[in-house]
Amino acid sequence: MSANGTTAAPILRLSGINTYYGQIHILQDVNIEVGAGELVSLLGGNASGKSTTLKTILGIVKPRTGTVEFAGDEVTDKRTSYRIGQGMAIVPENRRLFGPMSVLENLEMGAYLNKDGKARTEDFDRVYELFPLLHERRAQLAGTLSGGEQQMVAMGRALMSRPRLLLMDEPSMGLAPILVERSFEIIKQVHDAGVAMLVVEQNANMALSIADRGYVLSTGRIVLEGKAADLLQNEDLRKAYLGR
Ligand SMILES: Nc1ncnc2c1ncn2[C@@H]1O[C@H](COP(=O)(O)OP(=O)(O)OP(=O)(O)O)[C@@H](O)[C@H]1O
Ligand SMILES: [Mg+2]
Repeated sequence: MSANGTTAAPILRLSGINTYYGQIHILQDVNIEVGAGELVSLLGGNASGKSTTLKTILGIVKPRTGTVEFAGDEVTDKRTSYRIGQGMAIVPENRRLFGPMSVLENLEMGAYLNKDGKARTEDFDRVYELFPLLHERRAQLAGTLSGGEQQMVAMGRALMSRPRLLLMDEPSMGLAPILVERSFEIIKQVHDAGVAMLVVEQNANMALSIADRGYVLSTGRIVLEGKAADLLQNEDLRKAYLGR
């Protein structure tokens, strides 16, 4: 067992990450691990560096120092397309669907690396089994779906590539409370199916209620980390993020 309580070899490991935008030092000595099959939440307020962390993991921004390892492979200098080919997938901030395209076409965009017709059919079946509503609505234009439905399309699209690690950027953003709950039920369901996840959230209570472990970012530094159950009891976290 490693120091932070994970057992299996991690699927993702960020070590000593420092990321800059120009001269501005954003991520400062960030270390994060996600174990195989683990659900980890990354918490923090606006501008704390959550999305920058996901961009660093995906290779959209390059850290000045530090390493990104994915499934035992150092990918720090590899392109985003390579990392996606190796099994990373993302549900981006604000979902970013192709609004004028149908649900089916949006899901197809998630399968573009997967050439085999039979495998593709299986992927559709798996996603439709998880989200029966997407099958019903497969011909509807994505831009006309409700926020919660769009969240399902965004997750379904990410799952089409059979990711080994699913990155999610603020899945609860812009959703009514009932849909936030539904959204987290779905995240839990995907996690229960064996997919490792790193879920970025400002809704700390909800995120920690389904996570195995969590990290808290504050102005680019990890200021708190631990088991989700322990973080939920942490006084500093409760004051800062849980409104109690
Ligand atoms: N391309 C960029 N160029 C310059 N600064 C940037 C760029 N992208 C982000 N930043 C800055 O980096 C800091 C961290 O941004 P980031 O998007 O990672 O925060 P966040 O925690 O995801 O915030 P939010 O909760 O609002 O999404 C912010 O101060 C932001 O203005
Ligand atoms: Mg963000």
